[in-house]
Amino acid sequence: MVQKQSPISVSAPGKLLLFGEHAVVYGYPCIVSSVSDRLTVSIEESKKSGVDIQTPGVSDQRFIRASIAEFEKRFSITIDHCIISTFSEFSSSFGFGSSAAVTAATIKALALFTKKNIPLKDIFDISYAAVLSVQGVGSGFDIASSLYGGTILFEAGGKRIDPIPVNMPGHSFVVGYTGEKADTVAIVREVAEKRQKYIEKVDRIFTAIGDIVLQAKKALEEGDESRVGTLMNFNQEYLRDLGVSSEKLEALIAASKNAGALGAKLTGAGRGDCMIALVPDEKKSDVEGAIEKSGGTVLRVTLGADGVKRATTDDQKELFIVVDKNDTVIGYRSRGDCHADKTLVHRAINILILNDKEEVLLQKRSMTKDTQPGYWTTSVGGHVSKEETYEEAAVREMIEEVGIQDSVVFVTKFIFVFSQETEMEALFTARSNGPFYPNADEIDEVKFFTKNELIRTLLDPSFKLTELSYECLKRIHFI
Ligand code: MEV
Repeated sequence: MVQKQSPISVSAPGKLLLFGEHAVVYGYPCIVSSVSDRLTVSIEESKKSGVDIQTPGVSDQRFIRASIAEFEKRFSITIDHCIISTFSEFSSSFGFGSSAAVTAATIKALALFTKKNIPLKDIFDISYAAVLSVQGVGSGFDIASSLYGGTILFEAGGKRIDPIPVNMPGHSFVVGYTGEKADTVAIVREVAEKRQKYIEKVDRIFTAIGDIVLQAKKALEEGDESRVGTLMNFNQEYLRDLGVSSEKLEALIAASKNAGALGAKLTGAGRGDCMIALVPDEKKSDVEGAIEKSGGTVLRVTLGADGVKRATTDDQKELFIVVDKNDTVIGYRSRGDCHADKTLVHRAINILILNDKEEVLLQKRSMTKDTQPGYWTTSVGGHVSKEETYEEAAVREMIEEVGIQDSVVFVTKFIFVFSQETEMEALFTARSNGPFYPNADEIDEVKFFTKNELIRTLLDPSFKLTELSYECLKRIHFI
């Protein structure tokens, strides 16, 4: 008997352009960041023939249909006997790139459903072809953002997709929604017509924007917030010149600058959707208040979220346990909420597995997805779901990630602050010599290290260890 495979769910983040909109369509680079709100696509087998597409609240199924068609064409197969459904944490009106996110997540889900190991760049190419077949225009920056996550420098068609390490502690981006939906395809076509008429003027604007993008990359990497803010303002001036701003956008941009933002601009095609401001944390509530007072809606997202990734079936609705600093439960919030708000301390676990030779097992995160690709980290790590104890979560994660079932020993508990979230970490050890069956979707390899080997390896700059695992290894006195 053929076993029915369990449903596959894949989530992809929305995006916001930090610099370079419109010019990117003409071959200049842009800088885009993924956001913490995600869109999930699930596929499950069905007895009925055909593909049943269920998209509650979304009437436009063209991008899913185009994704299936491109996938079938690329691999000369027919997708059949399945149900494809979607769930989004964000409205398609915000300009967060829901078409790109649904396309990227559908192609990745189809790859897992048909058991094909497809490199991320190929997933980008198939997704880009699908999006172009529906809307005819677009640089593909939004697809790259949904797939790669983080903040990237992008060139049209995926010629360049380079991660940018953003380092601006004490500062955040605030996003204001105008309430007006932008028609991206129409605006891109209008800009193209304008360029035909006034080619020199428009190309001068694009060259200037391209230059701002390269300066912004440097400023983001160097953590020069005031320069980043100034460059956002310059970029906005050129977009205004291009004729793609609007009264409402200008009102929200001016309000946020008056309230203390270091810089602000529209994000995306313009004429509506959202604006974005760079704000010192102590001015955040002033800027948010000013945006709301000017008729905008503040969208509470953080930037630089993970790219496309496999999720459990109802991952987005999964509730995490929120605690105070003494680990007393104060409520339950969704994964999305916890990953967008550093004040929501939520429970998590880490396990360090040791073998009979007292070596420690570390896992190398997959190169193709997730934040910190290629980093080495603890043997097992994950979140504690509502109704679960720390220990139950540890045992479940051990089965899911490295394919073994063993008992765990509690070591200690501590709070760990990441760039986008805060976790109450329970650290466990476990004993096993393997064999291990690492989840190939998350993990490139697992390896045992002796103490000396690990200390030596840490001196090699090409070996990257997550800060959290460094802390865990210190706490069991391994390093
Ligand atoms: C739209 O969000 C951004 C544009 O640059 C179009 C594109 O790059 O596809 C205007």
